[in-house]
Amino acid sequence: MNSSPPHVAAQLAHTSATLAPALSGAAKIITAVLTGRTLDAALADPILAGELSGTLRAAVMDLAYATLRSFGRGDFFLAQLMTKPIADVHIRCLLLVALARLEARPEQAYVIVDQAVTAAAGIAAGNYKGLVNGVLRNFLRQKDSLLTRAKINLAAHWQHPDWWITRVKKDHPPHWQAILAANNTHPPMTLRVNCRRVTSADFSDQLNAAGLQAHAEGSVGWRLEKPLPVAQIPGFAQGLCSVQDAGAQRAAQLLDVSAGQRVLDACAAPGGKAAHLLESADIHLLALDSDPVRTARIAENVSRLGLKADNIVIRTGDAALPGTWWDGQPFDRILADVPCSASGVVRRHPDAKWLRRATDIEGFVRTQARIIDALWQTLAPGGKMLYATCSVFNAENDAQVAAFISRHSNARRLPMNAAPFMQLLPTADHDGFFYALLQKI
Ligand SMILES: C[S@@+](CC[C@H](N)C(=O)[O-])C[C@H]1O[C@@H](n2cnc3c(N)ncnc32)[C@H](O)[C@@H]1O
Repeated sequence: MNSSPPHVAAQLAHTSATLAPALSGAAKIITAVLTGRTLDAALADPILAGELSGTLRAAVMDLAYATLRSFGRGDFFLAQLMTKPIADVHIRCLLLVALARLEARPEQAYVIVDQAVTAAAGIAAGNYKGLVNGVLRNFLRQKDSLLTRAKINLAAHWQHPDWWITRVKKDHPPHWQAILAANNTHPPMTLRVNCRRVTSADFSDQLNAAGLQAHAEGSVGWRLEKPLPVAQIPGFAQGLCSVQDAGAQRAAQLLDVSAGQRVLDACAAPGGKAAHLLESADIHLLALDSDPVRTARIAENVSRLGLKADNIVIRTGDAALPGTWWDGQPFDRILADVPCSASGVVRRHPDAKWLRRATDIEGFVRTQARIIDALWQTLAPGGKMLYATCSVFNAENDAQVAAFISRHSNARRLPMNAAPFMQLLPTADHDGFFYALLQKI
């Protein structure tokens, strides 16, 4: 995750002069998301967000993230407050943004209502100004009763779709509430020290000298007490560190690479784990990804970190079709960081909760199985493949690996801390990740 965390923007105070454009900008972004685009794509769209100035852009991001985190509540409140659905999707989204803000900043209630009405003047020829004013004032009048009713509506209370709550409950009976609650928090920001360029201790001194508080996470990780834009991190532009969650930093450590090995990172873009592998040892790495736009970012990361270009070959290709990219020489190590539901990192991508459908999970499971079955033939006897997801759903994790083992008699799981796999659940320290290490016998 290389973008600066959205909650940096939460520190910005909205004055009444800036709130209307921020509400209006966020409503456009939410409209794009609810009509099928990802939040990242909407925020990267030059027409939707391109012309926003730094402060306004930060405020729009703050409102958009907050609205999507709490979409289950906004949706519930609108259903309670309206007798029929709102025809104009843009106005509906403006109301969702304003409701999220009213819950977050109750002390600014009347400024928020006033500014939402101002924002509504610029949508649909101002025809819905009265409706926006009425709905928001009704929300304030009925707030106590609405909040009481929201407690017994699962999607409103947990801020996740019903199917997602059911799945997490089934997969993690003792932890489901903690997982859902963690998904609604702001994510931590953790740095990975580029140990080719600086020691972890010296980098920590640089953080201290810059007045930044950080907590050690593993051997090369520093979790910042307060997230901040990467431009303000000492040595970031010079390649002394990368932004990478502590859970993601486990991958390179678990794969246990050593100098001279042939290593495949089969789903490598944007290159966070690939760069960590290259920082760990002088390996010969093939970094593959099926998405050409994302693949280009691998080279950018490797270059910023000053890693040896001779040690890496970057290719665009489908990991499930080795015939199109494999030279027939077996790999000693494979990282299969497969596409998944991203249910372990949903606080970084709150749109995923509402865009995914329950049936999408089966599709991910099928794709993951195709990829790892194909990759297995490229692994040397005695070699190791690390299967990784940023999911908390069992179907993509333990069940996937169990099915793989049953299909491949020459595969065995290598224990991790005496367990057959490592399931990290999202906490204040790290995101949700799953790892299983498989050896070819
Ligand atoms: C979880 S992300 C990888 C993150 C990356 N390992 C890192 O640490 O920066 C999954 C990646 O799989 C890629 N992908 C999806 N299907 C693929 C396929 N069939 N073959 C190769 N890559 C694929 C996606 O483009 C995406 O970049």
